[in-house]
Amino acid sequence: MDDAINGRIEALKEKYAASGQELLDFLDGLLETEYLTYWDYIRLDSLLSLQQPRTGHHDEPIFIMYHQITELYFKLVLHELDSVLENSPVSPDVLLEAIRRSNRYFGALEHSFGVMVDGMDREQFLRFRMALIPASGFQSGQYRMIEIASAKLNDLVHLDQREAYMNETNLATLLGQIYWLRGATLEKGGQKTLTLQQFEKQYGEVFLKRAHKARGKSIADQAFQLLQSGELQEDLRKELRVYDQYVNVLWPLQHYRSAVRYLAKQPSDARATGGTNWQKYLPPRFQKRIFFPFLWSEAEQEDWGKSFVDRYVTGN
Ligand code: HEM
Repeated sequence: MDDAINGRIEALKEKYAASGQELLDFLDGLLETEYLTYWDYIRLDSLLSLQQPRTGHHDEPIFIMYHQITELYFKLVLHELDSVLENSPVSPDVLLEAIRRSNRYFGALEHSFGVMVDGMDREQFLRFRMALIPASGFQSGQYRMIEIASAKLNDLVHLDQREAYMNETNLATLLGQIYWLRGATLEKGGQKTLTLQQFEKQYGEVFLKRAHKARGKSIADQAFQLLQSGELQEDLRKELRVYDQYVNVLWPLQHYRSAVRYLAKQPSDARATGGTNWQKYLPPRFQKRIFFPFLWSEAEQEDWGKSFVDRYVTGN
């Protein structure tokens, strides 16, 4: 037998002997094993069976699939962020690569949002949307996990309370003031919507655990440490600013455009969204979520989201 094959057999013998296994048994298994196929490897049949519309409208599968595509991109972003958190503190080069990749994913999402904004029939949307209440993209847990991994929790407190909670260290208290609660309380009366109650039941503990994991290690924490030690190079600073804009301005504005196109000026407005005042909640200039406030001037923070509004919302 040729030397290369002998070499591999020796290496395999050593590998299996180390865990008390017989190489011969594994070779028998190899003889039995089928060739791997593309469709089995990427679980294609499972993937393509995950679209289960609740109505017969032609455009509902578009709505489902685009949400699924978005969640997969969110998972790619979390794959990068979690690795940065787990290996904290990472080198500036590792952080740069993770944020570059995340920006690529958010870039793809920003550019593809037309699938939602222009890609469905409005009448159909308004009809099938009623069959989905009280579910809402608001309940995307991964979207919040990205925020928890990216920012100091104090910076995710609702704008009205942010200043007051700047030095708060209790993470459960901070989660009790988190900005998104305002997006899911009823305009009349201020109670939590069913959408929010179900969301908290599903993710409340997960978010608290993640907040503990991210304490002192979030992307913002690590970037701030680099800034203080003079190691935050221009390319990383730029990439972090782009990331802040993608997650907190560009994606939210594209998303807001969808809400405007389908829901604005509808008599059934409130019904279709469970009674929230999304017009006053969703626009980035009202939320002013900023992951890395230390990378933006006061004037830039003051104008957060405004310079992009013309481009996206008015279509200029
Ligand atoms: C036609 C398309 C869409 C419309 C009309 C729409 C509408 C809305 C509205 C009105 C809200 C405010 C909360 C509520 O009242 O339910 C919301 C929140 C949200 N939606 Fe969508 N949405 C669309 C597509 C998407 C897609 C594709 C995603 C991707 C996962 C998504 C994710 C979210 C998230 C994360 C929030 C919470 C935003 C925040 O808290 O700032 N939405 N959406």
